[in-house]
This record gives sequence, structure tokens and C-alpha cells, in this order.
Amino acid sequence: MRKIILLFLTIISFKLIAQEVNIIPQPVSIKTGKNTEKFIIDQNTEIISNDSLSNSALFLQNYIQKYYNIKLRINPNSTNEKNIIKLEIISRLLKNLNEYELISNNNQTIVYACSENGLFYGIQTLIQLIPETKSHLLQIPAVEITDYPRFDYRGMHLDVSRHFFDVAFVKQYIDYLALHKMNYFHWHLTDDHGWRIEIKKYPKLTEIGAWRNGSIIGLWPGKGNENIKYQVLPNEVKITPKDAVLQTDGIKHGGFYTQEQIKEVIDYAAKRYITIIPEIEMPAHSMALLAAYPELGTEPNKKYEVAQTWGMMNKYNNVLQASDTTFKFLENVLTEVMDLFPSPYIHIGGDEASKIWWKKSAISQEIMKANGLKNESELQSYFIRRIEKFVNSKGKTIIGWNEILQGGLAPNAVVMSWQGEKGGIEAAKQQHKVIMTPEIKMYFNHAQFVKEDSLTANKFSPLIDVYNYEPVPTELTAEQAQYIWGGQGSLWSEYITNPAKVQYQLFPRLDALSEILWSPKEKRNYPDFKKRLKTQFKRYDLMGITYSKRYLEN
Ligand code: ACM
Repeated sequence: MRKIILLFLTIISFKLIAQEVNIIPQPVSIKTGKNTEKFIIDQNTEIISNDSLSNSALFLQNYIQKYYNIKLRINPNSTNEKNIIKLEIISRLLKNLNEYELISNNNQTIVYACSENGLFYGIQTLIQLIPETKSHLLQIPAVEITDYPRFDYRGMHLDVSRHFFDVAFVKQYIDYLALHKMNYFHWHLTDDHGWRIEIKKYPKLTEIGAWRNGSIIGLWPGKGNENIKYQVLPNEVKITPKDAVLQTDGIKHGGFYTQEQIKEVIDYAAKRYITIIPEIEMPAHSMALLAAYPELGTEPNKKYEVAQTWGMMNKYNNVLQASDTTFKFLENVLTEVMDLFPSPYIHIGGDEASKIWWKKSAISQEIMKANGLKNESELQSYFIRRIEKFVNSKGKTIIGWNEILQGGLAPNAVVMSWQGEKGGIEAAKQQHKVIMTPEIKMYFNHAQFVKEDSLTANKFSPLIDVYNYEPVPTELTAEQAQYIWGGQGSLWSEYITNPAKVQYQLFPRLDALSEILWSPKEKRNYPDFKKRLKTQFKRYDLMGITYSKRYLEN
């Protein structure tokens, strides 16, 4: 009995003094110091940074003020050696441009990096060393951390077309990405259900294209049999009368970002070392555009509407005509987009273009003949190549969904593989850069539990599947594998109508994603990740983030 008590006491006392370090994504190397050593942040702690306007110093100052109500002084000239958080750019070459080292002891916490990005990543780790409850002393364990990312592209997407999210929330979303050391935000700005970016030359895109008159009720194809009647085409996929007649809620939905707002968001992201990749969809997912400028469709006399029902399966959705008029229009749109976004990459969509519209359009057929195109897949390729040439002429590179492989890949395109990995594998073999976002693992709008509390897309991508996803397919050679630029989580908003639901779908799958993309492969460990998540959830409580409490049950 005495032995048991002794063992129990030992475990308890070990627990009391052990240094808990729970960081997501898991760093490359962590050494914890003596248990008695700790750095304490208080009102007198100074942040020392070469530059008083350093993004990292300001971010840290703002974070500690926001969540702990302590305003630390940023003092580039401080000569203090104690009670300081020092951010230092060093010229000593680290292994990776984004690498940082974080050393913390009784007197100081120092973050070293050889780039601003690296410093910022160090700050994100430091934030996770601070206790996640307000009532505690702000005590940081003694650690020595060395860390750098595994992949160069660590992306997260947000669809703001199916449901619109305002600037304040988009900024919050960017902060979530920053906390997870993600470096690309893929902003899905246009689709059938709403055009969300002001284009000065074509005001109708937002006057008309940013608004729809309702959204279908419930899971696609929606409930009921009233209101909207869509044309059912002969010889298409089988559409039951129920599918063809849909009920919407009749509530006008929409919104858009002015160019000034877009600039504000780009600047906000840049201060967090996140590049925003805008997506302008073509030649499909363009009903909002066509509602505003019907002359660019394959049926110029048709009255197009901003779509109210989700999905492409039904093939209600028209595509753009591959005419000179359309290309001129798209070039003008892309010029404004490229002038706004400093990103070297522009996403031009390219997915799910139903070929039936080009098949039945005499003008499309003429365009194909004039350009020696044998079939509609080649027309799709012609479309993307022509746009690529224009984007390349402005010094930028296109990214497209994997369908841009159809009919031949544009010479410099980056491929985003969503229909499994096949497209990504093919593109890597053709020596094109690839971003992996296979829907079955990486679409966070899918259900995360077998039985969800609220409506989600009708597919299942649980946390463990996300965590176990490996972006580099085994069938690629080492040489080909180098074309796997990284991976991305995608969040489509058909069934996501408000910010709390975005959070619910995003967390903690974003945590799993960040670990796949940042941490060394050999460090992946699901039970350990789940242990670290418990601390992360407390931080989410502090930050007012919604997540499923079911994760706390085991
Ligand atoms: C997609 O999910 N259609 C890219």
C-alpha cells in the first residue's frame, strides 16, 4: 500500500512540475529545460525588436493585449537583459528560409530567424507556450525549439460565393491560418451563386451578380416542389421531376468586397506572411457573371440567373462562350484582379465545365473548327491556355483545378488536385507543380462525425482521415515527388451560412492539416496530436472559437 501511495505521489508531483509543451503543428525539435526554469511575462516585459514596426512584434503585442489585457512595450533600444522577449533576425544561415529558433529561460525569450517569415512563425509558437487561461500567471516553460516547414505551399481555401462572409470575418479567418503557420489563403471569389469582387470596368458583376433571390432548402437537391423551374435537358444525366423543381427559401442573399476592402484584406494577410490567391472561375461556375453579362454565354438570348441551387450534377449551369468578346472581358477582369493582388499566382478555376453547352452551340462549334480543335475537351484546353498566355504576359502563373488537364495541360499551370490524387499525379509526372486537396480527405465542408448536429455536405472526412493524409503519393519517384508543392484544405460554403459554422467545420481539421504540411513526416502521431489538441481547445475557448465539444469526450 505504501508503495502504491509513493508511486501515486511521484506521479502527482511529476505532473505538477513537468513542463507541458503542446504545440500544433508539432515543431521539428523541442528540448525542454529544467522544470524549475520559466519565463514570466508581466507588465514590465519588453519586446525587443530591431524594428518597432515589426509585424511580429506588433502581432505579439496585440495578441497579449487582446487576450490577457497586458500591453507590452516594444522597445528597439532596450539594453535590458532580463524580462525581455527578443526578436532577432540573424544572418547565420539556417537550414530553411522559414526556420526559427526559440529559446526561453528564466530571463529571456529569444526568437531567432533569418527571415521575417521565420520570426513570425516563432511568434506563433510562442503564443502557444503562453497559458491558455486568463487566470494564470503568464509563465512560459524553458525550451529550445528549432523549427521549419516541410512543404512550401500550406493552403486553406474559403468559398465566399455560396455564402458571403464580411471583411471582419475574413480577417479573423486569416488569423486562424496564421496561428497554424499556413502561408496561402485561396479566396474563392466567384461562382454560380455570387460574384464577390468589385470590378470597376464591369459594375454589373456586383450590381447583379452579387445577389441571388434565394437558396435551396436543405441538402441538395433541396426540399419541396415549388418556386423555381429549371430547364431539364434531354439526354442529360437522369433528373427526376423532384430534382428539376426546387424550393428555395426566397431570401435574397449576397454581398461583395470593394477594391478598397480587398486591398485592406491583402495588407492584413501580408502582415501575417500569408499570400492571398484570388480565384476567378472560368469557363464554368459562371452563372453570376452570365446573369450580369448574358452575351458571354453560349445562349446569348437566354435570361440567366444567379444560381439558387448548389451543385453541377444537374447541369443547369451554363459555361462561357470561348469567343474573342469573352476573352477580352476576362482579360479586363483579370487585369484589375492582378493589379490588386500581389500574388504571383492567380487561380482561374477550370473545374466542372459541362461540355454540353459547347456541343449544342453553333458558335462554339465554329470556334472549334476555326482553331482546329477536335472535341470540347480540346476547347476547354484552348480556353485555359489562352487565359494562361495572358496571365503569363503579366508575369503571373495560373493555378487550375485538375480538370485543366483535359485536352492537354497549359504549359506553365499549377494543378490543384481535388478529384482524388489522379490529376495531381499526372501533373507531377508532367513536371507541373501540384497542390493536393483531394476532396475525400481535404474538404472540410464534409461531415466530421457520422451523425452531425447540423447540415453538412453529404460526405465524410473525419479528423483522423485528415490527419493521416499524406500529400506525396507513393507511386511518384523522388524526382516527381518534388513537384508536390504542398496541400490545402478546402471549405465550400453551400451549407455554411455563418462564421460560427465556418469555425465548427474548420476546427480542429485545420490543426490536423497544419501538422501534415508543416511537421516532419516521421513526427506524425495521432494519439499525441489528440493530447496536444486538448490544450488547443482551451485556447480556442479563450479566442471564442466554436468547435464540436464531442472532441472533448475522449
Ligand atoms: C470543386 O470542388 N469543384 C473544385
